[in-house]
Amino acid sequence: MEEKVTVKILPNGPIFITGELKIVHRDGHEEERKNVALCRCGHSNNKPFCDGAHGKNGFKDE
Ligand code: FES
Repeated sequence: MEEKVTVKILPNGPIFITGELKIVHRDGHEEERKNVALCRCGHSNNKPFCDGAHGKNGFKDE
């Protein structure tokens, strides 16, 4: 049975995705990941991934 992908919106933080993932970047290169945290605050220096900057910048999602 295939593993389900779970997308979890963390309070005041990133979108955390667990499962077997293939990420296709803007330039077309692909990478396989098992878990990933995607930035939704806009402050990460490693977009599209979360680098923890949401905490330093006081990101609030409400
Ligand atoms: S959500 Fe973590 S750096 Fe943006």
